[in-house]
Amino acid sequence: VKVAGEEGSGVLKTAKPEPAAANNARSFPKGFVWGTATSAYQIEGAVKEDGRGVSIWDRFAHTPGKIFDGTNADVAVDHYHRYKEDVQLMKAMGTKAYRFSIAWPRIFPEGKGKVNPKGLDFYNRLVDELLANGIEPFPSLYHWDLPQTLQERYGGWESRETALAFADYAGYVTEKLSDRVQRFFTLNEIRTFVDRGHESGILAPGFKLPPARLNQVRHHAILAHGLAVQAIRAKARRGTKVGPAENIFAVVPIIETPEHIKATEIAMRELNAGYLTAMLEGRYTDAYLKAAGADAPKFTSEDLKAIASPINFVGINIYTPDYYISASNKPPGYQSLPFNKSHPRMVSSWHRLGPETLYWAPRLLQKLWNVKEIYITENGCATSDEVAKDGQVYDSDRIMFLRSYLTQLQRATSEGAPVRGYFLWSLLDNFEWVAGYAQRFGAIYVDYTTLKRTPKLSASFYREVIARNSVV
Ligand code: NOJ
Repeated sequence: VKVAGEEGSGVLKTAKPEPAAANNARSFPKGFVWGTATSAYQIEGAVKEDGRGVSIWDRFAHTPGKIFDGTNADVAVDHYHRYKEDVQLMKAMGTKAYRFSIAWPRIFPEGKGKVNPKGLDFYNRLVDELLANGIEPFPSLYHWDLPQTLQERYGGWESRETALAFADYAGYVTEKLSDRVQRFFTLNEIRTFVDRGHESGILAPGFKLPPARLNQVRHHAILAHGLAVQAIRAKARRGTKVGPAENIFAVVPIIETPEHIKATEIAMRELNAGYLTAMLEGRYTDAYLKAAGADAPKFTSEDLKAIASPINFVGINIYTPDYYISASNKPPGYQSLPFNKSHPRMVSSWHRLGPETLYWAPRLLQKLWNVKEIYITENGCATSDEVAKDGQVYDSDRIMFLRSYLTQLQRATSEGAPVRGYFLWSLLDNFEWVAGYAQRFGAIYVDYTTLKRTPKLSASFYREVIARNSVV
């Protein structure tokens, strides 16, 4: 079985699933949604085409010294022009879903006001192409490419205006796409773009704000999520569903004993207090407000109500264990343990191995907040891929990574955790933000000179997982 339609691509011959294997102890629930994920700025290119406005990432990437290899995503992997080929690659892997993001500055070049119909046309074409190939579109409305005008005019996420503008944009897109799109994600990884964009300044817009302003940015971002949920509901055609795609702190009990598990539950709630906990509970925890003290965000009870607008599902991006947790007899009842120096990592320095995150995150969402529908909206890793002499890419470590994480995910579903789908990050190698093109996350290799796509060995592996609906 070839992995993709291209010459020289298919890596391995794979057998038809054995009938017995289709229902073995390592199977996922029937109807489990297998997909891949990407984001607009990381793959589209065509930054000046069809009336697209400038985003904070265009500005940031073009600022000397910000991106590791001095690159930007002006061309990226040219998905804007090659989306049909990319849909065929998804289809060849057997995926039934695709998570991508809509670039806000393509729709509203200045963030609000004048709409750009040509920008929407691209997503109309993409959605139609996906559906024609049996792939369900799962768009995210924000994957970090804030229109630059909103940054300059209002101070971006420091202003409530940005949250209001986001809701209007979300409503507009819903009106146009919800005849064909059933599920929308609001904002991708609020924690990452708030903390790394406004505290350490590593990501766009590159600020190092003092705590009070940082907390306000965080508040506006979760408010944007809540207001968008309301706008989507107001404009939705039948059956539209919505939820966040958050980079939760993924915590794991160091040893699976009742006391460490209890401590992990407390840690999960408190560490995510500025994000998912607020969205699911409609309040900031006492510990969060106490720790912030005079720097706590300014908010109204109306804000909290909006932030906790009912959602249909929770999306979580899971890569690395943030902490191993042990019980403590001192408040708050848990202790975050340091990582051993030799704890194995993938290529990205932040990326430690921790497959059991894919077991604990869903289990904790179910236990703490009774979440009924969960998507793993991203999981994957960067590896040091190269094209071998025979034209293949032997990413054995990505296969090892995926197999070990999926084993833990399967453990969660087999115990009844309501995980409905999994999106591999990423479909293609792409622009990895500050790492530029130096970190390859794709199941499909991209030659950045010719833009030729070559499925890696892991694409064959993933295809087999999907075909059998089972860890293989
Ligand atoms: C999460 C982000 O959503 C995505 O944009 C990024 O490329 C991956 N993590 C890998 O770092």
